[in-house]
Amino acid sequence: MKSKTGEHRFETRAIHAGQRPDPTNGAVVVPLYQTSTFAQPAPGVMRDGYDYSRADNPTRRALEHNLASLEGATHGICFGSGCAATSAAVQALGAGAHVISFDDVYGGTRRLFSRVMAHDDRSFTFCDLVDPDAFLEHVRPETKALWIETPTNPTLKLADIAAISARAHEKGLRVIVDNTFMSPYFQNPLALGADAVVHSCTKYIGGHSDLVMGVVMTSDDAYAEKVRFLQLSVGAVPGPMDCWLALRSTKTLAVRMERHAANAAAVAEFLEGHPAVKAVAYPGLPSHPQYALAQRQMSGFGGMITLVVDGGLEAARRVLDRVQIFTLAESLGGVESLIEHPGLMTHASVPPEVRAELGIDDGLLRLSVGIEHVDDLIADLKQALAG
Ligand SMILES: Cc1ncc(COP(=O)(O)O)c(C=O)c1O
Repeated sequence: MKSKTGEHRFETRAIHAGQRPDPTNGAVVVPLYQTSTFAQPAPGVMRDGYDYSRADNPTRRALEHNLASLEGATHGICFGSGCAATSAAVQALGAGAHVISFDDVYGGTRRLFSRVMAHDDRSFTFCDLVDPDAFLEHVRPETKALWIETPTNPTLKLADIAAISARAHEKGLRVIVDNTFMSPYFQNPLALGADAVVHSCTKYIGGHSDLVMGVVMTSDDAYAEKVRFLQLSVGAVPGPMDCWLALRSTKTLAVRMERHAANAAAVAEFLEGHPAVKAVAYPGLPSHPQYALAQRQMSGFGGMITLVVDGGLEAARRVLDRVQIFTLAESLGGVESLIEHPGLMTHASVPPEVRAELGIDDGLLRLSVGIEHVDDLIADLKQALAG
């Protein structure tokens, strides 16, 4: 399912890349091929390369082409979750690999690295990559890659993808970027020099909080082949229905991201001026310590905001009790606004001393700003923060 849209702009590729009207009946939308297996004309002969849906499925293939086009990659390889995609991206580095990871990554990524993958023969070092030279002292002969999440989750620190990629390549290391928070609409790590990109499609790509999925994207053929082999062999694949939903979602990714970012900018500004709020982190605020980098490497600032309320855990719990539009829930990137307490929820698996080191304060709350009317969102936070 090749599209002729390679040179078109993001919004056009989002709707057309990987998709074309069905050649047999003209259906405009790629059908949901809810099938596990495919009839073969003769033993070992496949129609259009399909024999079994773990190996390949037409709905998944259309989505993989679509996502690759949006991220500017030649290969998109989908998995049953963001964690499964992360796992495959690291496994593909080979046995015995050492990986240097940004310290403030998603708690589940840190758990996967330090409590699952480090029990095999792999090893991980966590360091603060705000300084693009910080990783150099940790490079060992077996170091294979840098793992970057930018902005980080939940403190919204940034890593300079271009600067780090240049230094990493001098050392013969790959750079893999978890681009979940920005989506391919606001940040394209491959264009900045990274070698591979991972997304939890559960977030902005899916966008409606109704699916769990991940993807690895790269233009490195040899690395892609290894990731594809893991997709087939380990089998952590998304079902056709989730692929169909994700393919429907990418069509509106651009308009959703614009609204997420516009709402988040207004909410961040409101919070910054509120007396009950000690600190606000949003890459689009001039007060963000890396605002200049944000402007350089991202084309918009996304929908994620972190705030620290005065009064610690008790005050944070009061806000969580009072919000009416913001839903208390993990995850992010859906059309509906969510609020969570990383210390008790998404990052509870991170040891308390590491949380303290990373600045994950007891009064820290994370907002995923949705696409509701911004005035309603601000009014909701205003009443929740009132003394
Ligand atoms: C930045 C980031 N990466 C990866 C993941 C893992 O994705 P999934 O939950 O789809 O496995 C998450 C989940 O919250 C995330 O926020």
